[in-house]
Amino acid sequence: MSGSIFGKMFRISTFGESHGPALGVIIDGCPSNIPITLEDIMKNMDRRKPGNAQIGTTRKEADEVEILSGVFEGKTTGTPIALLIRNTNQRSTDYGKIKDVYRPSHADYTFDQKYGIRDYRGGGRSSGRETAARVAAGSVAKLFLEQLGIQVTAYTRSIGSVVVTDKDFALDEVSQNPVSMPSNTVSTKALELIAKARENKDSIGGTVECIITGLKPGIGETVFDKLDALLAYAVMGIGGVKAFEVGEGIHASTMYGSEYNDGFYMKDGKVTKSTNHSGGILGGMSDGSDILLKAHFKPTPSIAQTQQTITKNLEDTTIEITGRHDPVIVPRAVVVVESMVALTLADLILCDLGANIEHIKKIYQ
Ligand SMILES: Cc1cc2nc3c(=O)[nH]c(=O)nc-3n(C[C@H](O)[C@H](O)[C@H](O)COP(=O)(O)O)c2cc1C
Repeated sequence: MSGSIFGKMFRISTFGESHGPALGVIIDGCPSNIPITLEDIMKNMDRRKPGNAQIGTTRKEADEVEILSGVFEGKTTGTPIALLIRNTNQRSTDYGKIKDVYRPSHADYTFDQKYGIRDYRGGGRSSGRETAARVAAGSVAKLFLEQLGIQVTAYTRSIGSVVVTDKDFALDEVSQNPVSMPSNTVSTKALELIAKARENKDSIGGTVECIITGLKPGIGETVFDKLDALLAYAVMGIGGVKAFEVGEGIHASTMYGSEYNDGFYMKDGKVTKSTNHSGGILGGMSDGSDILLKAHFKPTPSIAQTQQTITKNLEDTTIEITGRHDPVIVPRAVVVVESMVALTLADLILCDLGANIEHIKKIYQ
């Protein structure tokens, strides 16, 4: 099993390596009649695309998506949607030097142990490039969610020690700076930190926050397929994610129940909560308030400093990684988090349709 299939009802299967001819995804289970254009997909692809020399790898990829099937006259047809992204800027020579050496903190050693064969050119499937197919699929999931009035919005909350506080928070500024932070002022400090890390041949970590709005109560299953469990599964499956939080997250373990509990009250005939420490999920299901998530990314593993490692023949050696790498994963991963969240929601919404005979009667009749 290569673990490349995600979802039960809105199901995706991705393929392709960093330095192969192409990457892609097949989406099965997407309902028909959803309006879709290539621009809708490219809008998201452009946010993940490398090429911003300030913060990312200098590998320039157009990331043009080809829609091979499942779309006709600007609408989904209900049949499998196949999306292809050709690799156009591979430079395998960068990786010749590390062919027989394992990069610390990357997936080289474990891939070799598992398969006995390693695609050293950019890490094969473990490359950040693999996430292009997730973003293409996530774009379709987002269009599905938009039809239901559901929005998924992610942004960079912190890079290293530079954090956007609630005081500085301005969501409309996310698209105005290269690190996708909800504060242009704070983003300047983050860029300085990234520049410093790069100067020191180093990399840095950070966090991505995500808000889901417009989701009705009751989405998510009650035992193994809880909404928070599946969101964690989806987001932790992104390369470099080391922790995941919902609502107060790890802070909840330091709180009293009287502080944490979100009191219910009625407002204009609607169930409302006075606070949202639980992050919009109760008992594994959405509670109708905004869902708040956070993903913690480690620093990019590939750094140019001299590091201790071993060769394929288990001899001690050192390594300096000089290829084209992101000094920070987070800004490019913002749209990847959004995509994985959208895919999870699209799947669970379709799963939910069979939960109650009254819903089934309405749809069937
Ligand atoms: C969008 C994105 C870009 C990435 N870019 C790089 C990179 O340039 N260099 C690198 O070494 N790792 C990069 N990574 C991280 C590796 O893919 C990841 O660390 C590796 O697969 C090992 O997995 P793990 O960190 O989850 O253990 C990137 C990840 C993402 C999501």
